[in-house]
Amino acid sequence: MSREEWTLEEKVEVLEKRVAVLERILRISQILTSTLQLEPLLQIITQAATELTDTEASSIMLLDKNTGELHFEVINGVKSEEVKRITVPLEGSIAGWIVREGKPLLIPDVRQDPRFYSKVDETTHFETRSILGVPLQVKGEVIGVLEALNKKTGRGIFTQDDMHTLSTLAAHAAIAIENARLMTETQKAYEELSELDRLKSDFVAIASHELQTPLTIILGYISFLKERATGEAGEQVEIVLQSALRLRSLIDDMINLRHIETGEAELELERLSLNELVTTITAEFASLAEAKRQSIGIRLAPQPPMVEADRQKLHLVLANLLSNAIKFTPEGGRIQVEVETKGNEVWVSVRDTGIGIPPREQERIFDRFYQVEPSLTRRFEGMGLGLSIAKGMVELHGGRIWVESVEGMGSSFTFALPLLEG
Ligand SMILES: Nc1ncnc2c1ncn2[C@@H]1O[C@H](COP(=O)(O)OP(=O)(O)O)[C@@H](O)[C@H]1O
Ligand SMILES: [Mg+2]
Repeated sequence: MSREEWTLEEKVEVLEKRVAVLERILRISQILTSTLQLEPLLQIITQAATELTDTEASSIMLLDKNTGELHFEVINGVKSEEVKRITVPLEGSIAGWIVREGKPLLIPDVRQDPRFYSKVDETTHFETRSILGVPLQVKGEVIGVLEALNKKTGRGIFTQDDMHTLSTLAAHAAIAIENARLMTETQKAYEELSELDRLKSDFVAIASHELQTPLTIILGYISFLKERATGEAGEQVEIVLQSALRLRSLIDDMINLRHIETGEAELELERLSLNELVTTITAEFASLAEAKRQSIGIRLAPQPPMVEADRQKLHLVLANLLSNAIKFTPEGGRIQVEVETKGNEVWVSVRDTGIGIPPREQERIFDRFYQVEPSLTRRFEGMGLGLSIAKGMVELHGGRIWVESVEGMGSSFTFALPLLEG
């Protein structure tokens, strides 16, 4: 009986069935898009294919992008671990035909079809009688094949409706598979990065620890020599001492960073006036600025803002900002430090008239080891740790730090800390 001869009731019934199938595909599609792991995803797809087409089993083969071969991924309804090792040839297989043509294929009886590749049945001890196969396509490119095997009802013959249903499922499934693969790739890349990061941290930990002991000994001897040496020898000893002190501050940076990373940094809290702290530390940098003929100005808050903080750690934050300001500002420039109360916070900013920072770099300079100029060709000293330490210290205090800058005009670094109540 052709469809034209159907009664209205029959037509309605067919339509109702279709709508029901589509609703199920929609629900399956929601599950598919929320499953980002490939293995479970493929299981869900074959399960759905088996149910929707009312078959004994379903399988998925995926195309290997490198070798161009088709590999079995899953076949549900069949107990076999060996399935995964099966490669299906593109020539001389039904799946291969589907890949090459990019079209669905319906085979009522595989024994009558020369394209049938019987090796799979031999491995799985499954007897394939009929196949409905559809391509899995993403953006017009075939990534694999979804097959339903052995229709259980309707005298074992697949219908055009089955083909329609399986094709619709395949369209959703293909996108979900592609997403899962992308996710896996992203995850892999992320894990490799984390591993690199870990190696870097380990290196910093070992290097700083190993350097500390010999340097302490060197500093001990130099101090001893300095007391005795006079004249030219005295000047030479002084140069060695300054270099050794610089080395020590680099190593201190590495150790501080390590403490922040491992969460070992502890705060020794006390009541502090930021007006007082800023005045003290700025004074310590006066001679450094003078050597570059830079002027340093301070503007304090009218009411001394009090915070509960670790003096040494805030010292480190301000010292880092000030030394950067001096370092990255040409001779004759101006540096301005300001303390102001903003709501229930106190803001401390260090502004300079230096080289500035391009917009795309402004987030990254707070990363460890990050420097705007490539380290091998740099004009400036340093390891690129100062700002990441400053950020870590400020955040330990429940505060924030940020930068505003215009390239070639200057930069303004600000950190905000919660004010002590009362
Ligand atoms: N005041 C500033 N003016 C211009 N660039 C700055 C300033 N402060 C920091 N930077 C940029 O941020 C980078 C990271 O700073 P930092 O972490 O202190 O490392 P370092 O001072 O060792 O280079 C610097 O190398 C520099 O490129
Ligand atoms: Mg620095």
